[in-house]
Amino acid sequence: MVSATFKIALDGPSGSGKSTLAKNLAKHYGFVYIDTGALYRTIGLFVSERGIASDDAAAIVAVLPEIHIEMKLENGGGVVYLGGKKIGEEIRTPLCSKYASDVSKIPEVRAFLLETQRSIARENNVIMDGRDIGTVILPDAQVKLFIIASPEARAKRRYAELCEKGIETTYEAVLSDMKWRDANDSGREIAPAIPAEDAIHFDNSGLSIEETAEKAIEIIDKVYKR
Ligand code: DC
Repeated sequence: MVSATFKIALDGPSGSGKSTLAKNLAKHYGFVYIDTGALYRTIGLFVSERGIASDDAAAIVAVLPEIHIEMKLENGGGVVYLGGKKIGEEIRTPLCSKYASDVSKIPEVRAFLLETQRSIARENNVIMDGRDIGTVILPDAQVKLFIIASPEARAKRRYAELCEKGIETTYEAVLSDMKWRDANDSGREIAPAIPAEDAIHFDNSGLSIEETAEKAIEIIDKVYKR
């Protein structure tokens, strides 16, 4: 079947610069940008506010029917709403990162978020960033990029981002968090963060934000004809 929309899947580990690249590409091509990690983070936020432990899968699955989560399109990007309330920076804390990584291991949580992600891509040209976009969510994406960068390079970036947002932490804490999340996200049984067979591996360790975007555009332009 020929897809009516053009889909770019952007996967890779945390702090790999996926979201910055995805935003730049969305702007360049006029595509909708979808940050799928925000959905897992929002589930993490809900669960943590309920006082449920991040590894209590049974309790997390039990509260899923109470979670009303939506992804609405605003200014060319997906914005998450929880119970009708717009979600912002509150999901970017280290606690939410840990909760997101843990809840994302639960098959029921992944199934719960599947249609929200796919339905947007049916109606819009999208660039979607996450961990399993090329393998599970959009296996028919016309371009699949899997970003890689050393844990140190990623921790440096993430630390700078958190400092900018006024979130107190240290580089060492960010690096150790990142290594923990890498193992947790890629070692899980369901939808592990691994490249799709047809994904293009893209190492941006030594590249600036602009160079990363230029290189990605070169790859995408070979497939995307305006
Ligand atoms: O991209 P992020 O760091 O905001 O994602 C937070 C967590 O959510 C990440 O540790 C793993 C999980 N996640 C996932 O399992 N699948 C996705 N498509 C996106 C995120």
